[in-house]
Amino acid sequence: MNKHFYLTTPIYYVNGAPHIGHAYTSIAADVLARWKRLDGYEVFFLTGTDEHGQKVEKAAAEAGLDPQGFTDQVAADFRDMAARMNISNDDFIRTTEPRHKRACAELWRRLEAHGAIYLGHYEGWYAVRDEAFYNQGELTLGADGIRRAPSGAPVEWVREPSYFFRLSSWQDKLLEFHEKNPDFIAPVARRNEVLSFIRSGLEDLSISRTSFTWGIPVPGDPAHVMYVWLDALTNYITAAGFPDEADPRWGFWPADLHIVGKEIVRFHAVYWPAFLMAAGLAPPQRIYSHGWWTVEGEKMSKSLGNVIDPRELVATFGRDALRYFLLREVPFGNDGDFSRKALITRLNGELANDLGNLAQRTLSLVARQCAGVRPARGASIAPDQALRDAAAALPALVRGALEKFAFHEALEDVWRVVRAANAYIDHQAPWALARTDRARMASVLRVLLDAVRGVATVLQPFMPESMARMLDQLGVPADARGLAALDQDLPAGAALPPPEGIFPRFDALSR
Ligand code: MSP
Repeated sequence: MNKHFYLTTPIYYVNGAPHIGHAYTSIAADVLARWKRLDGYEVFFLTGTDEHGQKVEKAAAEAGLDPQGFTDQVAADFRDMAARMNISNDDFIRTTEPRHKRACAELWRRLEAHGAIYLGHYEGWYAVRDEAFYNQGELTLGADGIRRAPSGAPVEWVREPSYFFRLSSWQDKLLEFHEKNPDFIAPVARRNEVLSFIRSGLEDLSISRTSFTWGIPVPGDPAHVMYVWLDALTNYITAAGFPDEADPRWGFWPADLHIVGKEIVRFHAVYWPAFLMAAGLAPPQRIYSHGWWTVEGEKMSKSLGNVIDPRELVATFGRDALRYFLLREVPFGNDGDFSRKALITRLNGELANDLGNLAQRTLSLVARQCAGVRPARGASIAPDQALRDAAAALPALVRGALEKFAFHEALEDVWRVVRAANAYIDHQAPWALARTDRARMASVLRVLLDAVRGVATVLQPFMPESMARMLDQLGVPADARGLAALDQDLPAGAALPPPEGIFPRFDALSR
């Protein structure tokens, strides 16, 4: 296979409708997937839904539906969200699909064959909301008499027969694994959390339940269903064809990157590599954990009624505007706050004014002064060369920023060029040159067209739809929109379509 890249979002619980937090994870992963494709990689980008377990079973019962009917409905809603956010996933996996049940059963059998599983009895605390087991020491007792996990989720006492995974025997091997792979889990604060969790001592993990039935049956013992996290994590290999090693997608394993939220790091950076290594399979290469959004200063929750439906924002502001804002506003590993005011400020200032006006001014001058035809490159003087160099540096800068998941830095790098191009157009004043020196005017406009092309090319992964429109207006053919094509000059004399504004302005009261 050529240079290839396999990346995933977490699979989303289908206990409720998709919200802005889910959209965020998917959008970030989508930008990376699109960037890698633009950069010449063969990409396999996976997303999907996590449909088993007690939490989903409960939500189905509350909705008065059988779990399969319920998950069919909510999974369709998540698929719809992905489409509306313009997520370019190559596959969408549902954990209720036969291919996934087969992969889970096979992984279980391999773990058993390697002596990693034994039957015992679980007695302890469980939080359905997190689908996680907790030790007594991790819990707090609230004034309301309810015991809670560190996440705030209430816990209940569970006592039932259970299969266990010998996680305790992986403590040293996991530490060694993390030492050898210092970039396995980032940012570094998350790595430190993981290391201290492992050092604090790993207990064997309960990996089956008998008190409900909505799950994948344990091979040979159908009174048990698999623990939903063992089932869910396995999705990443199911979609790569496991256990069919002849499947062309198996060449993508181990995955290059799992993108996850900060609350599910332990599952991905401790349990997942342990399960895989115990089954004789390769662990993934990297995990990056992003922060959480609050909304207008508050935690998002159904009870506060402030859960934001990303589709409503898309209907008002456009999907590229939302994609841009979420990745520009907050460094990816940090927590952030979503506010409409901040969104509108960025859309007006950065998209409509800075970028939109740059393209619009350049293209309308070409339309009016050059009969809508792309001018030839003229002799470069220092300011021309400076802008050309700044634009030419963008692919490497954006690549470097994205390699460290600094989406906001990548966008800052691009906006530095956008601002430089706006300063250039002000100084060169091609509208005045139209009266005094038409040859110089034409070369100035050509420098600008090329700079806007450079900017629009590297921004495609962030704002695919708007940048496609911008590249259309610049007359860039479909096969000249990759990073490699930026080295090739576009021919002079091509007729450009009439310019049209791309980014609308919003008044501060817009809903
Ligand atoms: N089903 C598990 C993942 C299994 S992966 C093998 C799960 N699902 S989830 O639906 O609860 O969350 C999925 C993703 O959405 C996580 O990465 C999580 O961090 C993200 N977000 C959910 N709410 C969020 C915010 N308020 N802000 C940012 N991201 C958040 O966990």
